Amino acid sequence: MNYEQALQKLSDSGQQHLLKYYDELSEEEQKGLLQQIAETDFSVIRYLETKKSPAPRGVIEPLRAMQLSEIEEKKDDFTRKGLEALRSNKVGAVLLAGGMGTRLGSDAPKGVYNIGVTKDLYIFECLIRNLEQVKELAGNPIHLFVMTSDKNHDTTVAFFEEHDYFGYPKEYVRFFRQEMAPAVDYDGKVFLEEKGKISTSPNGNGGWFVSMDRAGILDLIHETGIEWLNVFAVDNVLQKIADPSFIGACIDSDCMVGAKVVRKADPEEKVGVICLEDGAPSIVEYYELTDEMRHQKDENGDYAYNFGVILNYLFRVSELERIMSHELPLHVVEKKIAYLDETGKAVKPDAPNGCKFEQLVLDMIHDMGTCLPYEVVREKEFAPIKNKEGVDSVESARALLEKNGVML
Ligand code: UTP
Repeated sequence: MNYEQALQKLSDSGQQHLLKYYDELSEEEQKGLLQQIAETDFSVIRYLETKKSPAPRGVIEPLRAMQLSEIEEKKDDFTRKGLEALRSNKVGAVLLAGGMGTRLGSDAPKGVYNIGVTKDLYIFECLIRNLEQVKELAGNPIHLFVMTSDKNHDTTVAFFEEHDYFGYPKEYVRFFRQEMAPAVDYDGKVFLEEKGKISTSPNGNGGWFVSMDRAGILDLIHETGIEWLNVFAVDNVLQKIADPSFIGACIDSDCMVGAKVVRKADPEEKVGVICLEDGAPSIVEYYELTDEMRHQKDENGDYAYNFGVILNYLFRVSELERIMSHELPLHVVEKKIAYLDETGKAVKPDAPNGCKFEQLVLDMIHDMGTCLPYEVVREKEFAPIKNKEGVDSVESARALLEKNGVML
């Protein structure tokens, strides 16, 4: 793309300011900027409007979860079935590590965060340790696919190399990059990160399967015979990956996807809950439930909307391929975005100053024909690190790790 074509593309979406410093750039930087303009999809900016008037939800109804007592009863059978699937390489794991972790406030990828106290213990290490345990149980390694973004790919790969993959067989770990989207101010003007660089950010965790396919990993999945993919977040240090009992329960129920869920602490807790929407599995945010729904009880006297998701899903590959061409909704998310001000000075804001556009993995659930919500014990499996302090922080995760016997 040449300068004139770039200017035309930008004018069409009101973003000509991105060429403000063009004449000050070196030839190479100019080339880089033109290429970035050519590759960027500015049409996503129209979604800024949806922030003001979100799309209405369908008819919401409860979806029954498989609860702890039932799981306990069938545990041996589930575990046997899960291990069988793991032994025949039917399950792969997908670590979503493309996020920016802005709330934690570190520039490094979240997984390299050291949560140790008397010794080093990195978030990635916690996850690999867990996978290692499953490998021991199954007797063979599980393929691990790690999603990164342009912002953290090199650092993430270098970190794994430097730590020798924490002892996990390197040939079973593959990295792939997710797509990026432009970041804008509240008026829809795309930020410049540098004079020759448009501000972009990872486009959410919803595009993981499409990005895997673009990276050629789907071929490997077919060659290996992987039928299930366990997708999980980087920031839950008590994450149970490729959990044999969960896998067995999903196989047994013949569902297209399984979702690990935790019982809500109380009806008012602010978590996304699993339910049916227009008859299909779905996840609604706490504010989308009416007061009446929050307190609604089922035939056993339990709250009907009582289970929150923890971003640990087991997807059936054939179903993922079926829905691959479905467009997921784009969410407009307020974030802190580093930018150049009008004087060309770099600013790192300490409060949200604009929006990013994200597709979310939870929206994929609605496209799946059937879903098994599978209850897990919160204190044993859910220690997310989102914030520096307080709720879901390094501090709260450390306390939970210690409670589970992990030496810090
Ligand atoms: P979060 O929604 O917590 O986002 O991600 P984040 O970017 O890590 O953190 P904040 O909101 O900026 O503080 C949940 C999971 O999805 C992954 C994250 O790495 C985490 O495992 N994720 C998120 C991606 O892989 N890509 C994205 O674009 C966003």
